[in-house]
Amino acid sequence: MPYLIEPMRTKDIPEVIDIERESFSMTWPANSYKRELEENRMAHYVVLRYEAGAGEQPFPRKARDPRPFPLSLLPSLDRERSTQQDPPVIGYGGLWMMVDEAHVTSIAVRPEFRGKGMGQLVMLALFDVAVTRDARWMTLEVRVTNKGAQALYKKLGFRDAGIRPRYYTDNNEDAVIMWSEDLRSAGFRERYTKLKAELSRRFQWSVKP
Ligand SMILES: CC(C)(COP(=O)(O)OP(=O)(O)OC[C@H]1O[C@@H](n2cnc3c(N)ncnc32)[C@H](O)[C@@H]1OP(=O)(O)O)[C@@H](O)C(=O)NCCC(=O)NCCS
Repeated sequence: MPYLIEPMRTKDIPEVIDIERESFSMTWPANSYKRELEENRMAHYVVLRYEAGAGEQPFPRKARDPRPFPLSLLPSLDRERSTQQDPPVIGYGGLWMMVDEAHVTSIAVRPEFRGKGMGQLVMLALFDVAVTRDARWMTLEVRVTNKGAQALYKKLGFRDAGIRPRYYTDNNEDAVIMWSEDLRSAGFRERYTKLKAELSRRFQWSVKP
């Protein structure tokens, strides 16, 4: 299967940070992902990998070493292991489970892979995480100017539910608060099944628990 979704692990962090830098004007502090994965029991993150097919040029792994110079000159066993074994990460997403609400904290796809259904695939994986953990709703914040992401969420059944004024501290931009349908409703189940079928027609992917 060329596309694989699996839980994010510590060794994936350099690649994830690289995608984050290409995707957001405001990035998380360097050690945030490590803390999320190792200490935050509410947090669940996934990565999407892409393995080039036979005769296809492999997608270059672009992870930069997050350690400051001169530490970045030292070899890192985790990075090497990741490079040798796993196909490159091309997208990721995560959420916090808070009682029966799943709060999406982040989602991004490498620019080269956008507009091909990868964002929907990552969201599908996050729905899986939320439903498996018995969440009833999914919610998120998105910049008012980020019309592309809003279109993705609307396609997946999210609706606007208000504004958080000056939520983003880099430019004081407002956030739109969005909520999913009831994840236990027949309407959501139907949308979810249709989306899964549509994505399966478009490309081959698998999920590793
Ligand atoms: C938002 C993001 C994850 C979407 O990923 P993607 O792989 O491009 O999304 P998909 O190809 O699955 O798009 C699904 C749907 O979203 C909508 N959409 C996505 N990007 C869009 C854009 N730039 N303009 C308009 N609609 C867009 C479309 O409705 C599309 O459905 P369609 O292909 O049937 O028209 C990606 O653009 C990204 O990483 N952006 C930077 C980070 C970011 O903004 N994250 C969201 C923070 S809240």
